[in-house]
Amino acid sequence: MNMQGRPTRPETSAAPKGATFTGNRALDMEEALIFETGRFDATGVDIEAPAPFESKLGPHARESTLGLPGLTEPEAMRHYVRLSRNNYSIDAGLYPLGSCTMKHNPRLNEKMARLAGFADVHPLQPVSTAQGALELVEALTHALITMTGMEAIAMSPKAGAHGELCGMMAIKAAIEARGEGETRRVVLVPESAHGTNPATAALIGFSVRSVPAGEDGIVNAEAVKRALAPDVAAIMLTNPNTCGLFEREIVGIAEAVHEAGAYFYCDGANFNAIVGKTRPGDLGVDAMHINLHKTFSTPHGGGGPGAGPVALSARLAPYAPVPFVVREGGALRLVEHAEGGKAFGRITAFHGQMGMFVRALSFILSHGADGLRQASEDAVLSANYIRASLNDVMSAPFGDRACMHEALFDDRWLKDTGLTTLDFAKAMIDEGYHPMTVYFPLIVHGAMLIEPTESESKASLDLFVMTLRDLALAAKAGKSERFHAAPVHAPRRRLDETRAARQPVLRWTKPAPA
Ligand SMILES: Cc1ncc(COP(=O)(O)O)c(C=O)c1O
Repeated sequence: MNMQGRPTRPETSAAPKGATFTGNRALDMEEALIFETGRFDATGVDIEAPAPFESKLGPHARESTLGLPGLTEPEAMRHYVRLSRNNYSIDAGLYPLGSCTMKHNPRLNEKMARLAGFADVHPLQPVSTAQGALELVEALTHALITMTGMEAIAMSPKAGAHGELCGMMAIKAAIEARGEGETRRVVLVPESAHGTNPATAALIGFSVRSVPAGEDGIVNAEAVKRALAPDVAAIMLTNPNTCGLFEREIVGIAEAVHEAGAYFYCDGANFNAIVGKTRPGDLGVDAMHINLHKTFSTPHGGGGPGAGPVALSARLAPYAPVPFVVREGGALRLVEHAEGGKAFGRITAFHGQMGMFVRALSFILSHGADGLRQASEDAVLSANYIRASLNDVMSAPFGDRACMHEALFDDRWLKDTGLTTLDFAKAMIDEGYHPMTVYFPLIVHGAMLIEPTESESKASLDLFVMTLRDLALAAKAGKSERFHAAPVHAPRRRLDETRAARQPVLRWTKPAPA
């Protein structure tokens, strides 16, 4: 029971029995479900009972109440504030999740996104009244074209994976327009790829042919040539790749792919490492998504709302989906239908995530060209600082080589300690850090992928390095009790993550009366 006399959430997964009456441990407070704290006969607002009316719902009318919990305003406030304190966030500390680019979200972006003209714009309002918003979309498009060196940008996709789908649908449309839809049915995907790449290809009916990664972690142009055949529609290659390495043979790969009549899709999730340094268009890329929530600092927001605009080469630009913005005379217009063009159709109901566009443009304009280049350089410098500072206590799968924006370690250094990558990651939680990405990329055994981003100060990086060194030395010294039980200081201990993912309990069931 909590102090209000209502039951608290039962202790789960061997959480340490609270030594306190409330179950709270100082600022770490137990929080029950809102269904458990709320009262079904109460509400936080005074609403007048409606005048008698005749229901038109007939047999569809509810026979019982909805059963929603009622709370007073302070109770509701406290519930959500307490829950929010259980979240780890980039505003709370270093968030080294590799491949996710958890960088600081500048408050300036937030301020701009809240300007009424952007925040309140409605997708169905007359275009003549949304000219400012369209101008912002046009400006962001122009900035992305400049940075990627590509011909056109499809703005509407709502995440990286959605961008992949958009880019691959443009490729499919182009192949079908060439009359090769029936013969080019295969997409090449390197072994190191993010799972969304083969999933995207399969979703739109391609079959996937795997390309091995070389001993040095990058894709070899010769291996691609061996996999190319008249049935290949495209390759999906990530650059920098998921091992945090620049695909050095990318130009040769692009040439071979084009010679074979196929298209080059680049997974641009790691664009943040190369912005201002190199342009994908110059490397031979035909389509590439840009995760605005990674490279351009828009919030990840628990999986959404995101934005994944897709840059397209001149060869693919005609197949870009609607809607898109065009300038006609002095005014901007939204092209909503193919209008006789080759657009493959529409990938979202409306025009994309306006709030994310505002934040991304705000990041771009406030950094300027030199600032964006420096952000890329600092992200790479930070990752290499971490790599070099941990190299003697942990093992790097591809040797002592400079990396791009993320430092990758494997689990060879844990051999003979009886510990796993998971144990190490869980012990980081006790030290107040969100773990790095673990067990990805799949080609590296027990992978630990650390992406510090450009946001961290040297002091922050140093504390992180010292913490990881301390943990690594403890692991090697056989102090396994620090790991096997970890996390011991978190509100919840080790959960059955597989079961939580496969059989999530998403519905509260009212307990039977005692
Ligand atoms: C390499 C790579 N590709 C694709 C994606 C998918 O992006 P999103 O999560 O925006 O759908 C990610 C996400 O982490 C990624 O790291």
